Amino acid sequence: MKKTLFSGIQPSGIPTIGNYIGALKQFRDIQDDYDCYFCIVDQHAITVPQDRLKLRQQIRQLAAIYLASGLDADKVTLFIQSEVPAHVQAGWMLTTISSIGELERMTQFKDKAKKQNDGIPTGLLTYPPLMAADIILYNTDIVPVGDDQKQHIELTRNLVDRFNSRYNDILVKPEIHMPKVGGRVMSLQDPTKKMSKSDDNQKNFISLLDEPRLAAKKIKSAVTDSDGIIKFDKENKPGISNLLTIYSSLTDESIESLENRYKDEGYGTFKADLAQVVEQFLTQFQEQYRIYYESDKLDDILDAGRDKAQRTSFKTLKKMEKAMGLGRKRK
Ligand code: TYM
Repeated sequence: MKKTLFSGIQPSGIPTIGNYIGALKQFRDIQDDYDCYFCIVDQHAITVPQDRLKLRQQIRQLAAIYLASGLDADKVTLFIQSEVPAHVQAGWMLTTISSIGELERMTQFKDKAKKQNDGIPTGLLTYPPLMAADIILYNTDIVPVGDDQKQHIELTRNLVDRFNSRYNDILVKPEIHMPKVGGRVMSLQDPTKKMSKSDDNQKNFISLLDEPRLAAKKIKSAVTDSDGIIKFDKENKPGISNLLTIYSSLTDESIESLENRYKDEGYGTFKADLAQVVEQFLTQFQEQYRIYYESDKLDDILDAGRDKAQRTSFKTLKKMEKAMGLGRKRK
C-alpha cells in the first residue's frame, strides 16, 4: 500500500512563484508515489483579517492553481478545509495538549503578531495545533513543504508524541519533505526576506496569475549586487543566488550548470534570459489555470475531495475522541 502525503496552502492571496517552487512543483513531482491529500486551508487564512468576497474568490483560484500545477485530479484528493469539520474538531483537541509557551515560540506567530494593529487574534497563536490536526487526520507519513513550515512540522511531531503517550498510541508521526532547491525563494527587491503572497509591495513577488510580461519586468528589476559575477553564494550574493534558484527550479537545469553557462556573461543577459523563462512558464501555466477556473469540473473535483476527506478524517477523529474520553458511554 502507498504511504500517505498531506499538504496545504492558505488562500490568503494568489500563490507566488515561491509557493510553486517550494510546494506545488514538489507536489506534482511526487504525486504518483503517495496517496495524496491537498488542502485549501481557508480556516488558517482567517487567523488574520480577510475580505470575505476576495477570500471566496481566492479559494476557487487556489483550487484551479493546484490543478494547473499538474496534479492529476483522478488520483489526488483536493479539498477545502472548512468543508471537512473534523479539522477544527481535532484541532481543538490538540490545542488542549499544547502549551502557550511553545506556541508563542513559533517564529511565524511572532512575525505575524507584529503586523497586527487591532490586537493579536487568538487564532494566530493556536494556528499550529490546527495545522497538526490537518496532518494527523489522514495518518500522514510525509508533508512536503517549504523551509518556513519546518518549525510547525516539528511541533506537529511533538504533539503526536504527547498525544500518543498521554492517551493511546493512535496518531502517525509525519516526516517533513523539502525540495533540494527552492525551499525558500526570496523577495525580488529585498533578497534577505522571504517571498510572500501577502506582501504589500507587488514588486517583491511574482504571483502565478501576474500578467507574464509584467512578471518579466519584475525579474529584470530584481535587486542584485555590484560585482557582476553569476555565482551561487546565499550569504554574500543573496539576490543573484535567489535568481539562480528560480531559474534552476523552472528549467530543471542545475545551479552549477547555470553558473558555468553564464560565467562570461553579465547580469543583464542573465536576467533577460530568466525573464523569458518566467514569461513562458506563466503563459503556459495560466492557459491551464483558466481552463480549470472556468470549468464545472472544478466543483466536481472539490465535491469528491470533500467526500473522501470527510470519510478518512472521521475515522481518526472518532479514535481520538474515544482516546480522550469525549462523548458518551453507552448502556
Ligand atoms: P503557505 O500558504 O504560506 O505556503 C504554502 C506552501 O508554500 C511554501 N512557501 C514557500 N516555499 C519557498 N519559498 C517561499 N518564499 C515560500 N513561501 C511559501 C510553504 O512552505 C508551504 O509549503 N501553514 C501553511 C499551510 C498549512 C499546511 C498545513 C501545510 C496549513 N496546514 C498542513 C502543510 C500541512 C502555510 O501557511 O503555507
